[in-house]
Amino acid sequence: MELLGKIKNREATIGVVGLGYVGLPLLMEFVEQGFTTIGFDIDDRKVEKLNRGESYIKHIADDRIKKVRETKLFEATADFGRIKESDCILICVPTPLNKYREPDLKYITDTGETLSKHIRAGQLIILESSTYPGTTEEVLLPILEKSGLKGHKDFWVAFSPEREDPNNPNFNTKTIPKVVGANDPHALELAKTLYDQVIVQTVPVSSSQAAEATKLLENIFRSVNIALVNEMKMILDRMGIDVWEVINAAKTKPFGYMAFYPGPGLGGHCIPIDPFYLTWKAREYEMNTRFIELAGEINTMMPYWVINKVMDALNDEGKSLKGSRVLVLGAAYKKDIDDPRESPSFKLMEILIDKGAKVDYNDPFIPELPSMRMYDVQGKSVELTPDSLGSYDCVLVSTDHSAYDWEFICRHARLLVDTRNATLGVKDSKAKIIKA
Ligand SMILES: NC(=O)c1ccc[n+]([C@@H]2O[C@H](COP(=O)([O-])OP(=O)(O)OC[C@H]3O[C@@H](n4cnc5c(N)ncnc54)[C@H](O)[C@@H]3O)[C@@H](O)[C@H]2O)c1
Repeated sequence: MELLGKIKNREATIGVVGLGYVGLPLLMEFVEQGFTTIGFDIDDRKVEKLNRGESYIKHIADDRIKKVRETKLFEATADFGRIKESDCILICVPTPLNKYREPDLKYITDTGETLSKHIRAGQLIILESSTYPGTTEEVLLPILEKSGLKGHKDFWVAFSPEREDPNNPNFNTKTIPKVVGANDPHALELAKTLYDQVIVQTVPVSSSQAAEATKLLENIFRSVNIALVNEMKMILDRMGIDVWEVINAAKTKPFGYMAFYPGPGLGGHCIPIDPFYLTWKAREYEMNTRFIELAGEINTMMPYWVINKVMDALNDEGKSLKGSRVLVLGAAYKKDIDDPRESPSFKLMEILIDKGAKVDYNDPFIPELPSMRMYDVQGKSVELTPDSLGSYDCVLVSTDHSAYDWEFICRHARLLVDTRNATLGVKDSKAKIIKA
């Protein structure tokens, strides 16, 4: 049967390469809609866990994995020879920056090399990793053609950016409209039909480059607006005005304003990274990305600004940061998730340690700090008790997990620096609270 017919009848086998925060939920949507799936990952531990019906991501319950396994429509494997069993292959591998803040496409090129040894004619291959315009066509396609097969003729390629927002209670993979672009009409029709089976709305665009650029625009928009409120925070702080009060008032305007919130710095796998994919590519066209650079400059400086507030707060107590005991609350990059990637908490801890503070942290979802690409901060989450809280010279709120009892924390801490406006509703604080 033709691939289009197989997709419409849900008889196509879907291979997902990279079973992380993006690939795993996407694969499960296909299973839940009756597709046979194969999950590919180079990490044997993940493969084994999934095949045992266990999750390794906090907001994806073991139960859901177990149910998906029981359907017999899903198997995880590290055997890429099984790529040929897939009709459609979705690539969801990481796209970080290297130490020069340039795109590191190693995971995409490695995947391409592996696939080129196993693909067969008639397959649809869709890249989902966030990247600069041109990656699908200029980087992935030529590698896949090492197979001897010709793209746009023997096999089909498309790009569809991921908009996953882990643990967002209002949206999930299925309910977030999905953009898809391809450079020939048949690939676009195949890819659109595929996502139409599992996702509420598929939005086709005219090329893979347009789809790649769409993702970057979305994340650059966030980065620039976060930088804007971070700058507002610093200015208003100097003026003695509470930026959160101002944002909450501004957002009552029913049009022309969208609330973004300041914080201790950018975090996560996307916003601090993706914009610089465009910066790098723009150089080829002799163009500068001034908004991106400026936003990067302001957002990168936020942890230093926060630490200055900590130093001022300690100074007011007659203490220096050197030798003070500081407890950082939250190691995840945003509330209620267990993902520490690019979390500003690590930068905060690093600066504190560099300046001679004695640092501990607490995060209910991250019992031990994993080794990070950029930071060498280690330790185990300390328990929050009246005694432990009271023993620190300063408690620094970096991530405002819902699990934190702010009344309790403020009752027992001595000095609390709050970068998230987490303590807004606290009535009976013994701690001196400084917003930062
Ligand atoms: N996490 C998010 O919220 C999010 C949101 C939107 C877009 N994205 C983008 O989606 C992509 C994937 O991100 P993620 O958060 O799922 O990453 P992740 O690190 O959680 O998962 C990636 C997985 O790919 C596997 N992998 C690496 N190289 C591989 C290879 N050669 N073959 C097979 N598997 C391989 C890793 O073992 C890992 O399990 C990135 O481009 C990211 O920018 C992520």
